[in-house]
Amino acid sequence: MTRSHILGVGMHVPERVVTNEDLAKMMTTTDEWIFQRSGIKERRFIERSGIGAADLAVPASERALEQAGIKKEQLGAIIFATLSPDHTFPGSGCLLGHKLGLPGVPALDIRNQCSGFIYGLSVADAWIRAGMYEYVLLVGSEVHSTGLDFTDRGRDVAVLFGDGAGAAVIGKSKREDQGVLSCVLHADGVGAEDLWVEIPASKYMPRVTPEHLAEARHYPKMKGKQVFRWATDKMPEVSLEALAKANLTIKDVDLMVPHQANMRINQLVGWRLELDEDKVVHNIEKYGNTTAATIPMALDVAMKDGRVKDGTTVLLAAFGAGYTWAGAVVRF
Ligand SMILES: CC(C)(COP(=O)(O)OP(=O)(O)OC[C@H]1O[C@@H](n2cnc3c(N)ncnc32)[C@H](O)[C@@H]1OP(=O)(O)O)[C@@H](O)C(=O)NCCC(=O)NCCS
Repeated sequence: MTRSHILGVGMHVPERVVTNEDLAKMMTTTDEWIFQRSGIKERRFIERSGIGAADLAVPASERALEQAGIKKEQLGAIIFATLSPDHTFPGSGCLLGHKLGLPGVPALDIRNQCSGFIYGLSVADAWIRAGMYEYVLLVGSEVHSTGLDFTDRGRDVAVLFGDGAGAAVIGKSKREDQGVLSCVLHADGVGAEDLWVEIPASKYMPRVTPEHLAEARHYPKMKGKQVFRWATDKMPEVSLEALAKANLTIKDVDLMVPHQANMRINQLVGWRLELDEDKVVHNIEKYGNTTAATIPMALDVAMKDGRVKDGTTVLLAAFGAGYTWAGAVVRF
Protein backbone atom coordinates (compact mmCIF):
# COMPACT_ATOMS: atom_id res chain seq x y z
CA MET A 1 0.00 0.00 0.00
CA THR A 2 1.21 3.52 -0.79
CA ARG A 3 2.50 5.39 2.22
CA SER A 4 1.63 8.97 3.06
CA HIS A 5 4.36 11.56 3.53
CA ILE A 6 4.88 15.07 4.85
CA LEU A 7 5.50 16.93 1.58
CA GLY A 8 5.97 20.42 3.00
CA VAL A 9 5.76 22.34 6.27
CA GLY A 10 5.37 25.98 7.21
CA MET A 11 4.95 28.10 10.31
CA HIS A 12 3.78 31.53 11.32
CA VAL A 13 3.97 33.42 14.61
CA PRO A 14 2.76 36.92 15.53
CA GLU A 15 5.47 39.60 15.51
CA ARG A 16 4.88 40.66 19.13
CA VAL A 17 7.62 39.17 21.32
CA VAL A 18 6.80 38.85 25.03
CA THR A 19 9.83 38.11 27.21
CA ASN A 20 9.92 36.64 30.70
CA GLU A 21 10.81 40.14 31.93
CA ASP A 22 7.63 41.48 30.30
CA LEU A 23 5.58 38.90 32.22
CA ALA A 24 7.39 39.83 35.45
CA LYS A 25 5.82 43.30 35.11
CA MET A 26 2.34 41.73 35.15
CA MET A 27 2.71 39.11 37.94
CA THR A 28 5.11 37.97 40.63
CA THR A 29 7.57 35.92 38.63
CA THR A 30 11.14 36.07 37.37
CA ASP A 31 13.04 35.17 34.23
CA GLU A 32 15.07 32.78 36.36
CA TRP A 33 12.01 30.89 37.69
CA ILE A 34 10.49 30.52 34.24
CA PHE A 35 13.70 29.60 32.43
CA GLN A 36 14.93 27.11 35.03
CA ARG A 37 11.65 25.20 35.14
CA SER A 38 10.60 25.39 31.48
CA GLY A 39 13.49 26.53 29.26
CA ILE A 40 11.32 29.39 27.97
CA LYS A 41 12.85 32.87 27.42
CA GLU A 42 10.15 34.44 25.30
CA ARG A 43 6.94 33.69 23.42
CA ARG A 44 4.76 35.43 20.80
CA PHE A 45 1.35 36.96 21.47
CA ILE A 46 -1.11 38.34 18.91
CA GLU A 47 -0.75 42.09 18.49
CA ARG A 48 -4.42 43.01 18.78
CA SER A 49 -7.90 41.69 19.38
CA GLY A 50 -9.45 40.00 16.36
CA ILE A 51 -6.64 37.65 15.28
CA GLY A 52 -7.73 34.04 15.68
CA ALA A 53 -6.17 30.61 15.29
CA ALA A 54 -7.51 30.46 11.71
CA ASP A 55 -5.77 33.77 10.87
CA LEU A 56 -2.40 32.53 12.11
CA ALA A 57 -2.93 29.33 10.13
CA VAL A 58 -3.23 31.14 6.76
CA PRO A 59 0.44 32.10 6.26
CA ALA A 60 1.62 28.82 7.82
CA SER A 61 -0.55 26.90 5.33
CA GLU A 62 0.62 28.99 2.38
CA ARG A 63 4.24 28.28 3.29
CA ALA A 64 3.58 24.55 3.64
CA LEU A 65 1.85 24.51 0.24
CA GLU A 66 4.74 26.38 -1.32
CA GLN A 67 7.33 23.99 0.11
CA ALA A 68 5.28 21.00 -1.03
CA GLY A 69 4.92 22.51 -4.51
CA ILE A 70 1.14 22.04 -4.29
CA LYS A 71 -1.55 24.52 -5.37
CA LYS A 72 -4.24 25.13 -2.77
CA GLU A 73 -6.85 23.96 -5.30
CA GLN A 74 -5.26 20.49 -5.17
CA LEU A 75 -6.14 20.07 -1.49
CA GLY A 76 -8.76 17.41 -0.82
CA ALA A 77 -9.31 18.19 2.86
CA ILE A 78 -8.27 20.30 5.83
CA ILE A 79 -7.58 18.98 9.33
CA PHE A 80 -7.36 21.70 11.97
CA ALA A 81 -5.96 20.81 15.40
CA THR A 82 -6.51 23.42 18.10
CA LEU A 83 -7.58 23.83 21.71
CA SER A 84 -8.15 27.55 21.15
CA PRO A 85 -10.64 27.68 18.25
CA ASP A 86 -11.65 31.15 17.06
CA HIS A 87 -15.17 30.47 18.37
CA THR A 88 -16.99 27.69 20.23
CA PHE A 89 -18.43 26.74 16.86
CA PRO A 90 -18.05 26.43 13.90
CA GLY A 91 -14.64 24.83 13.84
CA SER A 92 -11.59 26.84 12.81
CA GLY A 93 -11.04 24.48 9.86
CA CYS A 94 -14.14 25.92 8.15
CA LEU A 95 -12.83 29.44 8.79
CA LEU A 96 -9.40 28.54 7.40
CA GLY A 97 -10.92 26.96 4.28
CA HIS A 98 -12.89 30.16 3.68
CA LYS A 99 -9.86 32.39 4.27
CA LEU A 100 -7.80 30.30 1.85
CA GLY A 101 -10.61 30.48 -0.75
CA LEU A 102 -11.47 26.78 -0.81
CA PRO A 103 -15.27 26.48 -1.01
CA GLY A 104 -16.54 22.92 -0.62
CA VAL A 105 -13.29 21.47 0.73
CA PRO A 106 -14.10 19.42 3.85
CA ALA A 107 -12.65 20.67 7.13
CA LEU A 108 -12.26 18.55 10.24
CA ASP A 109 -11.49 20.16 13.58
CA ILE A 110 -9.84 17.94 16.11
CA ARG A 111 -9.42 18.64 19.80
CA ASN A 112 -6.56 16.62 21.13
CA GLN A 113 -4.59 19.50 22.57
CA CYS A 114 -0.82 18.97 22.56
CA SER A 115 -1.22 15.62 20.77
CA GLY A 116 -3.44 17.21 18.10
CA PHE A 117 -0.85 17.30 15.33
CA ILE A 118 -0.02 13.58 15.61
CA TYR A 119 -3.71 12.66 15.95
CA GLY A 120 -4.32 14.70 12.78
CA LEU A 121 -1.37 13.07 11.05
CA SER A 122 -2.86 9.64 11.70
CA VAL A 123 -6.17 10.71 10.12
CA ALA A 124 -4.46 12.29 7.09
CA ASP A 125 -2.27 9.19 6.73
CA ALA A 126 -5.29 6.87 6.75
CA TRP A 127 -7.22 9.03 4.28
CA ILE A 128 -4.31 9.11 1.86
CA ARG A 129 -3.49 5.42 2.13
CA ALA A 130 -7.18 4.62 1.57
CA GLY A 131 -7.19 6.80 -1.56
CA MET A 132 -9.85 9.15 -0.18
CA TYR A 133 -7.83 12.33 -0.81
CA GLU A 134 -4.61 13.04 -2.67
CA TYR A 135 -3.46 15.99 -0.57
CA VAL A 136 -4.49 16.97 2.97
CA LEU A 137 -3.62 20.21 4.75
CA LEU A 138 -2.89 19.50 8.41
CA VAL A 139 -2.69 22.50 10.71
CA GLY A 140 -1.94 23.07 14.38
CA SER A 141 -2.73 26.63 15.43
CA GLU A 142 -3.30 28.33 18.75
CA VAL A 143 -4.06 31.71 20.26
CA HIS A 144 -3.46 31.21 23.97
CA SER A 145 -2.71 34.77 24.99
CA THR A 146 -6.36 35.89 25.07
CA GLY A 147 -7.23 33.14 27.55
CA LEU A 148 -4.50 33.24 30.18
CA ASP A 149 -4.72 34.58 33.73
CA PHE A 150 -1.91 37.15 33.95
CA THR A 151 -2.21 37.57 37.70
CA ASP A 152 -0.37 35.72 40.47
CA ARG A 153 -3.32 33.31 40.62
CA GLY A 154 -2.61 32.03 37.09
CA ARG A 155 1.16 32.48 36.92
CA ASP A 156 2.02 28.76 36.92
CA VAL A 157 0.19 28.35 33.58
CA ALA A 158 0.37 31.82 32.00
CA VAL A 159 4.17 31.81 31.73
CA LEU A 160 4.25 28.59 29.70
CA PHE A 161 2.07 29.28 26.66
CA GLY A 162 2.43 31.23 23.41
CA ASP A 163 0.59 31.85 20.14
CA GLY A 164 1.61 30.33 16.82
CA ALA A 165 0.72 28.10 13.91
CA GLY A 166 2.37 25.25 12.04
CA ALA A 167 1.09 23.47 8.95
CA ALA A 168 1.97 20.46 6.84
CA VAL A 169 0.82 19.16 3.47
CA ILE A 170 0.37 15.41 3.55
CA GLY A 171 0.30 13.46 0.29
CA LYS A 172 1.46 10.20 -1.25
CA SER A 173 5.05 9.21 -0.73
CA LYS A 174 6.99 9.03 -3.98
CA ARG A 175 9.42 6.38 -2.73
CA GLU A 176 8.92 3.06 -0.96
CA ASP A 177 11.39 3.88 1.82
CA GLN A 178 9.94 7.31 2.64
CA GLY A 179 6.91 8.59 4.49
CA VAL A 180 4.84 8.06 7.60
CA LEU A 181 6.04 4.68 8.91
CA SER A 182 3.79 4.51 11.97
CA CYS A 183 1.33 6.42 14.14
CA VAL A 184 0.24 5.45 17.66
CA LEU A 185 -2.51 7.23 19.63
CA HIS A 186 -3.67 7.04 23.26
CA ALA A 187 -6.03 8.82 25.65
CA ASP A 188 -7.10 8.51 29.28
CA GLY A 189 -9.76 10.83 30.69
CA VAL A 190 -8.62 10.05 34.22
CA GLY A 191 -6.46 13.18 33.88
CA ALA A 192 -9.15 15.44 32.39
CA GLU A 193 -9.24 17.79 35.36
CA ASP A 194 -5.46 17.91 35.80
CA LEU A 195 -5.19 20.29 32.84
CA TRP A 196 -8.36 21.93 31.64
CA VAL A 197 -10.51 24.98 31.03
CA GLU A 198 -13.77 24.22 32.80
CA ILE A 199 -15.94 27.13 31.66
CA PRO A 200 -17.98 27.76 29.48
CA ALA A 201 -19.49 24.29 29.93
CA SER A 202 -22.59 22.97 28.17
CA LYS A 203 -23.25 20.78 31.22
CA TYR A 204 -23.98 23.84 33.38
CA MET A 205 -27.10 26.04 33.18
CA PRO A 206 -26.14 28.66 32.20
CA ARG A 207 -22.80 27.76 30.68
CA VAL A 208 -21.06 30.69 32.29
CA THR A 209 -22.10 32.85 35.26
CA PRO A 210 -20.62 35.93 36.96
CA GLU A 211 -19.69 33.55 39.82
CA HIS A 212 -17.72 31.32 37.46
CA LEU A 213 -15.82 34.35 36.21
CA ALA A 214 -15.20 35.64 39.73
CA GLU A 215 -13.79 32.22 40.62
CA ALA A 216 -11.56 32.34 37.50
CA ARG A 217 -12.93 29.01 36.28
CA HIS A 218 -12.72 30.20 32.66
CA TYR A 219 -8.90 30.14 32.82
CA PRO A 220 -6.73 27.06 32.26
CA LYS A 221 -5.88 25.16 35.44
CA MET A 222 -3.07 22.67 35.74
CA LYS A 223 -1.70 20.25 38.30
CA GLY A 224 1.84 20.82 37.08
CA LYS A 225 3.65 18.05 38.92
CA GLN A 226 1.04 15.46 37.94
CA VAL A 227 1.23 16.50 34.26
CA PHE A 228 5.02 16.44 34.40
CA ARG A 229 5.04 12.87 35.75
CA TRP A 230 2.59 11.57 33.16
CA ALA A 231 4.38 13.32 30.27
CA THR A 232 7.78 11.93 31.21
CA ASP A 233 6.34 8.40 31.50
CA LYS A 234 4.09 8.39 28.45
CA MET A 235 6.31 10.16 25.88
CA PRO A 236 9.13 7.58 26.06
CA GLU A 237 6.56 4.75 26.19
CA VAL A 238 4.68 5.92 23.07
CA SER A 239 7.96 6.63 21.26
CA LEU A 240 9.09 3.03 21.70
CA GLU A 241 5.64 1.80 20.68
CA ALA A 242 5.72 3.89 17.46
CA LEU A 243 9.24 2.64 16.68
CA ALA A 244 8.25 -1.00 17.28
CA LYS A 245 5.23 -0.57 14.99
CA ALA A 246 7.63 0.65 12.28
CA ASN A 247 9.99 -2.28 12.98
CA LEU A 248 12.67 0.14 14.16
CA THR A 249 14.56 0.76 17.40
CA ILE A 250 15.77 3.94 19.04
CA LYS A 251 19.14 3.41 17.31
CA ASP A 252 17.42 4.08 13.96
CA VAL A 253 16.26 7.55 15.04
CA ASP A 254 18.23 10.42 13.50
CA LEU A 255 16.14 13.16 15.07
CA MET A 256 13.36 13.46 17.61
CA VAL A 257 10.83 16.29 17.33
CA PRO A 258 8.92 16.16 20.62
CA HIS A 259 6.03 18.37 21.61
CA GLN A 260 7.50 21.53 23.15
CA ALA A 261 5.79 21.81 26.54
CA ASN A 262 8.79 22.11 28.73
CA MET A 263 12.53 21.77 28.19
CA ARG A 264 12.89 19.70 31.37
CA ILE A 265 10.27 17.22 30.15
CA ASN A 266 12.07 16.81 26.83
CA GLN A 267 15.50 16.46 28.46
CA LEU A 268 14.14 13.69 30.68
CA VAL A 269 12.35 12.02 27.75
CA GLY A 270 15.57 12.13 25.67
CA TRP A 271 17.55 10.73 28.60
CA ARG A 272 15.07 7.91 29.19
CA LEU A 273 15.20 7.01 25.50
CA GLU A 274 19.02 7.21 25.57
CA LEU A 275 19.01 9.74 22.74
CA ASP A 276 21.94 12.15 22.40
CA GLU A 277 20.92 15.68 23.32
CA ASP A 278 21.76 16.98 19.84
CA LYS A 279 19.20 14.59 18.36
CA VAL A 280 16.30 16.26 20.20
CA VAL A 281 14.91 19.39 18.52
CA HIS A 282 13.78 22.27 20.70
CA ASN A 283 12.54 25.79 20.04
CA ILE A 284 10.63 26.28 23.28
CA GLU A 285 13.04 29.02 24.37
CA LYS A 286 11.64 31.27 21.59
CA TYR A 287 7.98 30.30 21.38
CA GLY A 288 6.88 28.63 24.64
CA ASN A 289 4.21 25.95 24.44
CA THR A 290 1.99 26.47 21.39
CA THR A 291 0.22 23.10 21.98
CA ALA A 292 -0.97 21.64 18.64
CA ALA A 293 1.43 23.92 16.74
CA THR A 294 4.70 22.95 18.44
CA ILE A 295 5.55 19.86 16.36
CA PRO A 296 5.02 21.39 12.89
CA MET A 297 6.78 24.58 14.06
CA ALA A 298 9.80 22.62 15.35
CA LEU A 299 9.79 20.45 12.22
CA ASP A 300 9.84 23.59 10.10
CA VAL A 301 12.91 24.87 11.96
CA ALA A 302 14.70 21.50 11.63
CA MET A 303 13.93 21.30 7.90
CA LYS A 304 15.15 24.85 7.28
CA ASP A 305 18.41 24.40 9.21
CA GLY A 306 19.16 21.16 7.33
CA ARG A 307 18.74 18.68 10.20
CA VAL A 308 15.92 16.99 8.29
CA LYS A 309 17.10 15.90 4.87
CA ASP A 310 16.62 13.03 2.45
CA GLY A 311 16.64 9.77 4.44
CA THR A 312 16.38 11.33 7.94
CA THR A 313 14.28 9.19 10.28
CA VAL A 314 12.28 11.45 12.59
CA LEU A 315 10.48 10.40 15.76
CA LEU A 316 7.51 12.55 16.84
CA ALA A 317 5.99 12.29 20.33
CA ALA A 318 3.51 14.35 22.31
CA PHE A 319 1.61 14.39 25.58
CA GLY A 320 -1.13 16.77 26.62
CA ALA A 321 -4.48 17.54 28.16
CA GLY A 322 -7.10 14.85 28.09
CA TYR A 323 -4.86 13.09 28.87
CA THR A 324 -3.84 12.35 25.29
CA TRP A 325 -0.50 11.10 24.03
CA ALA A 326 0.77 10.02 20.63
CA GLY A 327 3.85 9.04 18.65
CA ALA A 328 4.81 8.72 15.00
CA VAL A 329 7.82 7.82 12.88
CA VAL A 330 8.41 9.60 9.57
CA ARG A 331 11.27 8.98 7.16
CA PHE A 332 12.06 11.95 4.91
C1 LIG B 1 4.52 24.06 35.99
C2 LIG B 1 5.89 23.63 36.43
C3 LIG B 1 6.93 24.35 35.61
C4 LIG B 1 6.05 24.03 37.91
O1 LIG B 1 7.28 23.59 38.35
P1 LIG B 1 7.39 22.86 39.75
O2 LIG B 1 8.78 22.37 39.82
O3 LIG B 1 6.30 21.85 39.83
O4 LIG B 1 7.13 24.00 40.74
P2 LIG B 1 7.88 24.20 42.09
O5 LIG B 1 7.38 23.15 43.02
O6 LIG B 1 9.34 24.26 41.90
O7 LIG B 1 7.43 25.62 42.48
C5 LIG B 1 6.16 25.85 42.87
C6 LIG B 1 6.18 27.19 43.55
O8 LIG B 1 6.42 28.20 42.56
C7 LIG B 1 5.36 29.12 42.58
N1 LIG B 1 5.11 29.55 41.21
C8 LIG B 1 4.21 29.05 40.34
N2 LIG B 1 4.31 29.72 39.18
C9 LIG B 1 5.28 30.63 39.33
C10 LIG B 1 5.81 31.61 38.48
N3 LIG B 1 5.39 31.78 37.21
N4 LIG B 1 6.82 32.38 38.97
C11 LIG B 1 7.28 32.22 40.20
N5 LIG B 1 6.79 31.32 41.07
C12 LIG B 1 5.80 30.53 40.62
C13 LIG B 1 4.20 28.37 43.18
O9 LIG B 1 3.27 29.24 43.74
C14 LIG B 1 4.89 27.51 44.21
O10 LIG B 1 5.16 28.30 45.33
P3 LIG B 1 5.09 27.68 46.81
O11 LIG B 1 6.09 26.57 46.84
O12 LIG B 1 5.46 28.84 47.67
O13 LIG B 1 3.69 27.19 46.99
C15 LIG B 1 6.06 22.09 36.31
O14 LIG B 1 5.22 21.42 37.22
C16 LIG B 1 5.82 21.58 34.93
O15 LIG B 1 6.60 21.80 34.05
N6 LIG B 1 4.72 20.82 34.72
C17 LIG B 1 4.35 20.35 33.41
C18 LIG B 1 3.69 21.48 32.71
C19 LIG B 1 3.41 21.23 31.27
O16 LIG B 1 4.30 20.95 30.53
N7 LIG B 1 2.14 21.37 30.87
C20 LIG B 1 1.72 21.25 29.56
C21 LIG B 1 1.71 19.81 29.18
S1 LIG B 1 1.16 19.64 27.59
